[in-house]
Amino acid sequence: MAKIAAVVLAAGKGTRMKSDRAKVLHQALGRPMAVFPIRAALALGCEPLVVVVGHQAAEVEAELSKQFAGAPVRYALQKEQLGTGHAVLSAESALEKFAGDVLILAADIPLITPATLGKLVEAKGDADVALLTCRARDPGGYGRIVRNSGGGVERIVEEKDASAEEKKIDEVNASIYLASAKFLFGALRKVGRKNAQGEYYLTDIVAAGRSVAVVAEESEVSGVNDRAELARSAAELRARKNAQLMKDGVSMIDPAVTWIDDGIEVGQGSVLEPLVSLRGTTRVGKGVQIGQGCVIVDSEIADGARILPYCHFEGARVGASAVVGPFARLRPGTQLGEETHVGNFVELKKTTLGKGSKANHLSYLGDAVVGEGCNVGAGTITCNYDGVNKHQTIIEDGAFIGSDSQLVAPVRVGKGAYVGSGATVREDVPAGALAVSAGKQRNIEGWVAKKAPRKKPGIP
Ligand code: UD1
Ligand code: CA
Repeated sequence: MAKIAAVVLAAGKGTRMKSDRAKVLHQALGRPMAVFPIRAALALGCEPLVVVVGHQAAEVEAELSKQFAGAPVRYALQKEQLGTGHAVLSAESALEKFAGDVLILAADIPLITPATLGKLVEAKGDADVALLTCRARDPGGYGRIVRNSGGGVERIVEEKDASAEEKKIDEVNASIYLASAKFLFGALRKVGRKNAQGEYYLTDIVAAGRSVAVVAEESEVSGVNDRAELARSAAELRARKNAQLMKDGVSMIDPAVTWIDDGIEVGQGSVLEPLVSLRGTTRVGKGVQIGQGCVIVDSEIADGARILPYCHFEGARVGASAVVGPFARLRPGTQLGEETHVGNFVELKKTTLGKGSKANHLSYLGDAVVGEGCNVGAGTITCNYDGVNKHQTIIEDGAFIGSDSQLVAPVRVGKGAYVGSGATVREDVPAGALAVSAGKQRNIEGWVAKKAPRKKPGIP
């Protein structure tokens, strides 16, 4: 196949989003929407690919450069947003006299696939332009395809310039074209701006040459102009992602309410309950169960782990066959070893739990290193912050921390040591020792009969 260059239009403001942020940076499945059409063009083998930036150019370029590090992506600046035709002209010098066919896509079409782009390549032949169209259930807002009596594409008329008769046309312009470079830039230089929006329309190149249309599925070419359309496109991307995972052996109780960001891998045999959300760089191993309502961000879950409902993880690593939750919170820097147990209402931050250790109820462990086979009792708290600095708590292998203890860091509990219930541990506990800090218990016999406040009559 001859080399094809691509131009992706991402300079517009996206007024209809009503947003401070450039439209093309709004996210679907955890990625800026512009990532999807750019990726489709790269998958087709387009090179170079020029992204036209303008509104919030610096932010858009920075974000996309991060997403496409190493790919043949360049950026061209459209200083003023004078329309889609003007935007393509802004990419001309970045194409460095490229002489083949140029694929042009708007950045607000996240559902387009490489297979459909390939159909444009097949259809173009020696025409000047091949363009994608679709039959729209609601053509409102789109440019309409005006065909001649022979059925050929004659021109495109924008909604705002269309007559009542033209508005009835349901074949619309998808904003995806393949044009030969020479024709494209020649035609664009002749495009004027005498239209309802006072803009240089890219759509005007269609009337300037011999154009062929490929009719695509509406589901692939719907544009995103407002937040409702973004939500609809994101739902379609979610459905595709989930379908792929299920095909690869992942079970989902209800894929319609399971949100897995683009690029996340989940191992075979894993089961995801409803309302699970896997985000960012998360990776899930094989045979993992994730309970309802868990939100897992930038974390790694190893094979065979069981995550019970309603947990929140961020930047954490969960070892193989660990059991976590329900209602556990793992904050950045948490590492749970194999077969560890972290139970309900336990919060961990920058804490390592060695193999087989348990913290099952109502605890806060921050900046702690817990060895293997330890038991951290209910209500244990590491007092890691002195108001100025954070300090470390070390609990060595096999230690047992009684319930309701406070470990005032920096402090170390030695191998196999015990901390008695309710202790406030301010000094290191040697290996094998028992630390107690509460005073000796006294019982005052008969106190209730003599001193206890009188209960009101009638109240048991
Ligand atoms: C455009 C088409 C319309 C088509 C529709 C499909 C034109 C004139 N109209 O309309 O026929 O049916 O897409 O979704 O092309 N952009 C720039 N610079 C500009 C203006 C826009 O880079 O000066 C970019 C935007 O960031 C966006 C894309 O071009 O990614 C399309 O712009 P938009 O304003 O959304 O065009 P539509 O009105 O949707
Ligand atoms: Ca649009």
